[in-house]
Amino acid sequence: MRKYYMAGNWKMNTTKGEAVDLAKALVSQLKGCAQKVMIAPPFTSLDAVGQVVKGSNILLGAQNMAAEEKGAHTGEISVLMLKDLGVSVVILGHSERRHIYGESDAFINRKVKLALQHGLDVILCVGETLDEREAGKAERICDEQTKKGLEGVSLAQLSKVTIAYEPVWAIGTGKNATPADAEAIHQAIRKTLAGLYSVDAAKKVQIQYGGSVKPDNVKELMAMADIDGALVGGAALKPESFVPIALF
Ligand code: 13P
Repeated sequence: MRKYYMAGNWKMNTTKGEAVDLAKALVSQLKGCAQKVMIAPPFTSLDAVGQVVKGSNILLGAQNMAAEEKGAHTGEISVLMLKDLGVSVVILGHSERRHIYGESDAFINRKVKLALQHGLDVILCVGETLDEREAGKAERICDEQTKKGLEGVSLAQLSKVTIAYEPVWAIGTGKNATPADAEAIHQAIRKTLAGLYSVDAAKKVQIQYGGSVKPDNVKELMAMADIDGALVGGAALKPESFVPIALF
Protein backbone atom coordinates (compact mmCIF):
# COMPACT_ATOMS: atom_id res chain seq x y z
CA MET A 1 0.00 0.00 0.00
CA ARG A 2 1.31 3.47 -0.75
CA LYS A 3 1.96 5.81 2.12
CA TYR A 4 0.08 9.08 1.72
CA TYR A 5 1.31 12.43 3.02
CA MET A 6 -1.42 14.26 4.93
CA ALA A 7 -0.51 17.77 6.05
CA GLY A 8 -2.38 20.45 7.95
CA ASN A 9 -1.69 24.09 7.19
CA TRP A 10 -3.22 26.02 10.06
CA LYS A 11 -2.56 29.40 8.37
CA MET A 12 -3.10 32.46 10.62
CA ASN A 13 -5.28 30.61 13.11
CA THR A 14 -4.92 29.49 16.74
CA THR A 15 -3.44 31.19 19.77
CA LYS A 16 -0.71 29.27 21.56
CA GLY A 17 -3.17 27.60 23.94
CA GLU A 18 -5.50 26.58 21.12
CA ALA A 19 -2.58 25.28 19.07
CA VAL A 20 -1.31 23.14 21.95
CA ASP A 21 -4.79 21.69 22.57
CA LEU A 22 -5.24 20.87 18.90
CA ALA A 23 -1.78 19.29 18.65
CA LYS A 24 -2.38 17.20 21.79
CA ALA A 25 -5.66 15.88 20.40
CA LEU A 26 -3.98 14.98 17.11
CA VAL A 27 -1.05 13.24 18.79
CA SER A 28 -3.40 11.05 20.77
CA GLN A 29 -5.92 10.38 17.99
CA LEU A 30 -3.37 9.78 15.23
CA LYS A 31 -1.16 7.39 17.18
CA GLY A 32 -0.39 4.51 14.85
CA CYS A 33 -1.71 6.35 11.76
CA ALA A 34 -0.31 4.59 8.71
CA GLN A 35 0.16 7.81 6.72
CA LYS A 36 2.87 10.45 6.96
CA VAL A 37 1.36 13.36 8.92
CA MET A 38 2.58 16.95 9.29
CA ILE A 39 1.09 20.00 10.98
CA ALA A 40 2.13 23.59 10.35
CA PRO A 41 0.99 25.92 13.14
CA PRO A 42 1.73 29.67 13.10
CA PHE A 43 5.32 30.67 13.97
CA THR A 44 4.25 31.84 17.42
CA SER A 45 3.13 28.33 18.36
CA LEU A 46 5.94 26.32 16.76
CA ASP A 47 7.93 25.99 19.97
CA ALA A 48 4.98 24.90 22.10
CA VAL A 49 3.55 22.57 19.44
CA GLY A 50 7.05 21.20 18.86
CA GLN A 51 7.13 20.06 22.49
CA VAL A 52 3.77 18.34 22.07
CA VAL A 53 4.63 16.43 18.87
CA LYS A 54 8.16 15.49 19.96
CA GLY A 55 8.55 11.71 19.86
CA SER A 56 5.20 11.28 18.08
CA ASN A 57 4.55 10.31 14.45
CA ILE A 58 3.56 13.90 13.59
CA LEU A 59 6.10 16.13 11.85
CA LEU A 60 6.44 19.81 12.69
CA GLY A 61 6.15 22.16 9.73
CA ALA A 62 6.41 25.91 9.17
CA GLN A 63 4.16 27.86 6.81
CA ASN A 64 6.87 30.06 5.32
CA MET A 65 10.46 31.13 5.77
CA ALA A 66 12.75 34.05 4.89
CA ALA A 67 14.86 33.92 1.75
CA GLU A 68 17.95 34.91 3.78
CA GLU A 69 19.68 33.13 6.62
CA LYS A 70 19.94 36.08 8.99
CA GLY A 71 20.47 39.81 9.29
CA ALA A 72 18.48 42.98 8.81
CA HIS A 73 15.12 41.53 7.73
CA THR A 74 12.62 42.95 10.19
CA GLY A 75 9.69 40.63 10.78
CA GLU A 76 11.16 37.65 8.95
CA ILE A 77 11.84 34.15 10.30
CA SER A 78 15.04 32.34 9.36
CA VAL A 79 15.63 28.72 8.45
CA LEU A 80 18.07 28.56 11.39
CA MET A 81 15.34 29.63 13.80
CA LEU A 82 12.96 27.02 12.41
CA LYS A 83 15.50 24.24 12.72
CA ASP A 84 16.26 25.35 16.26
CA LEU A 85 12.62 24.66 17.17
CA GLY A 86 12.56 21.18 15.66
CA VAL A 87 10.86 22.13 12.40
CA SER A 88 11.62 19.59 9.68
CA VAL A 89 9.33 20.75 6.86
CA VAL A 90 8.52 24.14 5.37
CA ILE A 91 5.63 25.08 3.09
CA LEU A 92 6.81 27.46 0.36
CA GLY A 93 5.06 29.25 -2.48
CA HIS A 94 1.60 28.96 -1.00
CA SER A 95 -0.89 30.84 -3.18
CA GLU A 96 -1.63 33.21 -0.31
CA ARG A 97 2.06 34.15 -0.26
CA ARG A 98 2.07 34.51 -4.06
CA HIS A 99 -1.16 36.45 -4.43
CA ILE A 100 -1.57 38.45 -1.20
CA TYR A 101 2.11 39.12 -0.52
CA GLY A 102 3.37 39.20 -4.08
CA GLU A 103 5.99 36.45 -3.84
CA SER A 104 7.46 35.68 -7.25
CA ASP A 105 8.67 32.34 -8.55
CA ALA A 106 12.27 33.58 -8.34
CA PHE A 107 11.85 34.64 -4.71
CA ILE A 108 10.19 31.34 -3.81
CA ASN A 109 13.01 29.49 -5.57
CA ARG A 110 15.58 31.22 -3.34
CA LYS A 111 13.68 30.00 -0.29
CA VAL A 112 13.38 26.47 -1.68
CA LYS A 113 17.14 26.28 -2.23
CA LEU A 114 17.96 27.74 1.17
CA ALA A 115 15.62 25.33 2.98
CA LEU A 116 17.11 22.35 1.13
CA GLN A 117 20.68 23.50 1.78
CA HIS A 118 19.83 23.43 5.47
CA GLY A 119 18.29 19.97 5.28
CA LEU A 120 14.63 20.92 5.64
CA ASP A 121 11.97 19.12 3.63
CA VAL A 122 10.01 21.43 1.35
CA ILE A 123 6.39 21.44 0.26
CA LEU A 124 6.34 23.59 -2.87
CA CYS A 125 2.82 24.83 -3.66
CA VAL A 126 1.69 25.47 -7.20
CA GLY A 127 -1.71 26.23 -8.67
CA GLU A 128 -3.69 28.33 -11.11
CA THR A 129 -6.26 31.07 -10.46
CA LEU A 130 -9.83 30.82 -11.72
CA ASP A 131 -9.08 33.18 -14.63
CA GLU A 132 -6.10 31.08 -15.63
CA ARG A 133 -8.16 27.89 -15.47
CA GLU A 134 -10.94 29.41 -17.55
CA ALA A 135 -8.40 30.54 -20.12
CA GLY A 136 -7.19 26.95 -20.41
CA LYS A 137 -3.83 27.76 -18.83
CA ALA A 138 -3.93 25.56 -15.71
CA GLU A 139 -1.33 23.04 -16.86
CA ARG A 140 0.98 25.72 -18.21
CA ILE A 141 0.90 27.70 -14.97
CA CYS A 142 1.64 24.64 -12.85
CA ASP A 143 4.42 23.57 -15.21
CA GLU A 144 5.98 27.01 -15.01
CA GLN A 145 5.68 27.33 -11.22
CA THR A 146 7.16 23.86 -10.76
CA LYS A 147 10.08 24.53 -13.11
CA LYS A 148 10.87 27.95 -11.67
CA GLY A 149 10.40 26.81 -8.09
CA LEU A 150 12.85 23.95 -8.56
CA GLU A 151 15.50 25.77 -10.57
CA GLY A 152 18.92 24.70 -9.30
CA VAL A 153 17.52 21.89 -7.14
CA SER A 154 19.61 18.75 -7.63
CA LEU A 155 18.32 15.23 -8.15
CA ALA A 156 19.59 14.32 -4.68
CA GLN A 157 17.69 17.25 -3.16
CA LEU A 158 14.50 16.32 -4.99
CA SER A 159 13.98 13.46 -2.52
CA LYS A 160 13.22 16.13 0.08
CA VAL A 161 10.64 17.92 -2.06
CA THR A 162 6.87 17.44 -2.11
CA ILE A 163 4.71 19.35 -4.59
CA ALA A 164 1.27 20.52 -3.48
CA TYR A 165 -1.20 21.27 -6.26
CA GLU A 166 -3.58 23.85 -4.85
CA PRO A 167 -5.91 25.42 -7.40
CA VAL A 168 -6.40 28.93 -6.05
CA TRP A 169 -10.14 28.89 -6.81
CA ALA A 170 -10.59 25.83 -4.59
CA ILE A 171 -8.88 27.19 -1.49
CA GLY A 172 -11.25 27.99 1.34
CA THR A 173 -14.16 28.20 -1.07
CA GLY A 174 -15.73 24.81 -0.53
CA LYS A 175 -15.26 24.21 -4.29
CA ASN A 176 -12.83 21.39 -4.73
CA ALA A 177 -11.45 20.23 -8.02
CA THR A 178 -13.09 17.01 -9.14
CA PRO A 179 -10.78 14.04 -8.58
CA ALA A 180 -10.43 13.73 -12.37
CA ASP A 181 -9.52 17.43 -12.80
CA ALA A 182 -6.99 17.23 -9.99
CA GLU A 183 -5.55 13.99 -11.36
CA ALA A 184 -5.03 15.58 -14.78
CA ILE A 185 -2.91 18.36 -13.27
CA HIS A 186 -1.04 15.95 -11.02
CA GLN A 187 -0.14 13.90 -14.09
CA ALA A 188 1.02 17.04 -15.86
CA ILE A 189 3.19 18.05 -12.88
CA ARG A 190 4.72 14.57 -12.80
CA LYS A 191 5.51 14.92 -16.49
CA THR A 192 7.21 18.24 -15.78
CA LEU A 193 9.27 16.56 -13.05
CA ALA A 194 10.16 13.70 -15.40
CA GLY A 195 11.40 16.24 -17.94
CA LEU A 196 13.47 18.06 -15.33
CA TYR A 197 14.92 14.94 -13.69
CA SER A 198 13.85 11.47 -14.88
CA VAL A 199 10.72 9.36 -15.08
CA ASP A 200 11.98 7.33 -12.17
CA ALA A 201 12.71 10.36 -9.99
CA ALA A 202 9.32 11.88 -10.87
CA LYS A 203 7.52 8.73 -9.76
CA LYS A 204 9.05 9.04 -6.32
CA VAL A 205 7.92 12.63 -5.69
CA GLN A 206 4.77 12.90 -3.62
CA ILE A 207 2.22 15.29 -5.07
CA GLN A 208 -0.43 16.49 -2.64
CA TYR A 209 -3.77 17.99 -3.53
CA GLY A 210 -5.01 21.00 -1.56
CA GLY A 211 -8.22 23.01 -1.78
CA SER A 212 -11.32 22.29 0.30
CA VAL A 213 -10.26 18.78 1.25
CA LYS A 214 -12.81 17.44 3.74
CA PRO A 215 -13.56 14.09 5.37
CA ASP A 216 -16.27 13.44 2.79
CA ASN A 217 -14.18 14.01 -0.33
CA VAL A 218 -10.75 12.78 0.75
CA LYS A 219 -11.30 9.13 -0.22
CA GLU A 220 -12.21 9.83 -3.84
CA LEU A 221 -9.28 12.23 -4.23
CA MET A 222 -6.77 9.78 -2.74
CA ALA A 223 -8.09 7.05 -5.04
CA MET A 224 -6.42 8.83 -7.99
CA ALA A 225 -3.14 7.31 -9.13
CA ASP A 226 -1.12 10.53 -8.99
CA ILE A 227 -2.59 12.07 -5.84
CA ASP A 228 -0.29 11.10 -3.00
CA GLY A 229 -1.68 13.10 -0.12
CA ALA A 230 -3.43 16.28 0.91
CA LEU A 231 -2.52 19.74 2.11
CA VAL A 232 -5.46 20.72 4.27
CA GLY A 233 -6.43 24.21 5.43
CA GLY A 234 -9.77 24.81 7.14
CA ALA A 235 -10.44 21.17 7.95
CA ALA A 236 -7.04 20.88 9.65
CA LEU A 237 -8.18 23.16 12.47
CA LYS A 238 -10.36 20.61 14.23
CA PRO A 239 -9.50 17.06 15.24
CA GLU A 240 -13.04 16.04 14.21
CA SER A 241 -12.23 16.88 10.60
CA PHE A 242 -8.45 16.39 10.36
CA VAL A 243 -8.32 12.98 12.03
CA PRO A 244 -10.76 11.35 9.58
CA ILE A 245 -8.87 12.94 6.70
CA ALA A 246 -5.53 11.61 7.94
CA LEU A 247 -6.99 8.18 8.59
CA PHE A 248 -9.32 8.27 5.53
P1 13P B 1 -8.62 24.85 2.48
O1 13P B 1 -8.50 23.37 2.83
O2 13P B 1 -9.17 25.67 3.59
O3 13P B 1 -9.31 25.04 1.18
O4 13P B 1 -7.12 25.38 2.28
C1 13P B 1 -6.25 24.68 1.47
C2 13P B 1 -4.89 25.25 1.62
O5 13P B 1 -4.63 26.36 1.19
C3 13P B 1 -3.88 24.45 2.32
O6 13P B 1 -2.61 24.99 2.20
